[in-house]
Amino acid sequence: MRVLVTGGAGYIGSHTVLALLERGDDVIVVDDFANSSPVALERVARLAGRSARLHRLDVADEDALDAVFATERPEAVIHFAGLKAVGESVADPLRYYAVNLGTTFALLAVMRRHDVRTLVFSSSATVYGEHQHAPYREGGGLLNATNPYGQTKVMIERILTDVAQADPRWRIALLRYFNPIGAHKSGLIGEDPRGVPNNLAPYIAQVAVGRLAEVGVFGDDYPTADGTGERDYIHVLDLADGHVAALEHLRAQTGVRAWNLGTGRATSVLALIAAFEKAVGRPIPHRMLPRREGDLAQAWADATRAEEELGWTAQRGIAEMAEDSWRWQSGNPQGYDADETHAEEARTA
Ligand code: UD1
Repeated sequence: MRVLVTGGAGYIGSHTVLALLERGDDVIVVDDFANSSPVALERVARLAGRSARLHRLDVADEDALDAVFATERPEAVIHFAGLKAVGESVADPLRYYAVNLGTTFALLAVMRRHDVRTLVFSSSATVYGEHQHAPYREGGGLLNATNPYGQTKVMIERILTDVAQADPRWRIALLRYFNPIGAHKSGLIGEDPRGVPNNLAPYIAQVAVGRLAEVGVFGDDYPTADGTGERDYIHVLDLADGHVAALEHLRAQTGVRAWNLGTGRATSVLALIAAFEKAVGRPIPHRMLPRREGDLAQAWADATRAEEELGWTAQRGIAEMAEDSWRWQSGNPQGYDADETHAEEARTA
């Protein structure tokens, strides 16, 4: 299949592009590298033995995107591009609404113009908000997130639902990710957040590699087994496979439907730190801090719908996630940066 992937150089995007290349798809990546590195795609090409075709542009640039569709003629789209930092979205909500909705509007307009109506959308478990309880089920009622980033996901799900209801030719998958961690087995691609990480796994990994001093554990007085927050961490390779399963499913199903991509299992902050300590082979300094505002005690998926309808289940456990995260982080202490500097020097030499 000829698949266009927006945000294909990002963390989940790059692993999904690799999975598509490995199964023989023709892949077109659209990315402006606002929050990702072209080095990720070079490494994906090395791993796959062939490359995706890259178009460096902002998805909100409708004319430029239109030209890509005209030449590349994709049959389906996976839409990852967007902003994703919760704290940043609280500080600058307008930017989050403008970028995440703007890119989606441009994409939908171009898709419709070129008669491409198969779309896999990168949503999030954040759409369940705080009024539903774990395990989250897809059909569980009104969606409502607690921050502007999450609200953009809720709004885009709504928009896509209306679009599919207005025109039955659309085939749309809304994939609600739980907490993606881990990296490719090669250690060549992985998560490379800009600045200090907001999320737990990259934070632990950067402490382990010596970039940060210690992990702050946000709250040890939650009503959970060890008092720390529990989440459904899912290996990014399982997530990538979930996208492939959704694309396949859309061949046979029109309309719009949401699927949770999670493992159905919860792991506490302390248990994740312990898994990393085992993978790294030494203690990881950490200390208790007050709760982070807006955090829930527990969040995990009921993943039965994806199993029944997509034939997909997460295969990899926490130990493997920590080992793979660590292989990536220890082999690339500064993420893709070192390679980028090198590439820049080579270009200007
Ligand atoms: C967060 C976002 C969520 C987003 C997801 C994307 C919030 C409130 N939620 O989910 O909207 O979709 O990232 O990946 O930001 N923790 C620590 N110390 C840290 C960092 C985190 O103890 O330095 C704890 C948190 O309290 C939580 C768990 O680790 O219990 C996981 O946190 P995180 O990785 O930030 O993910 P979520 O909060 O679940």
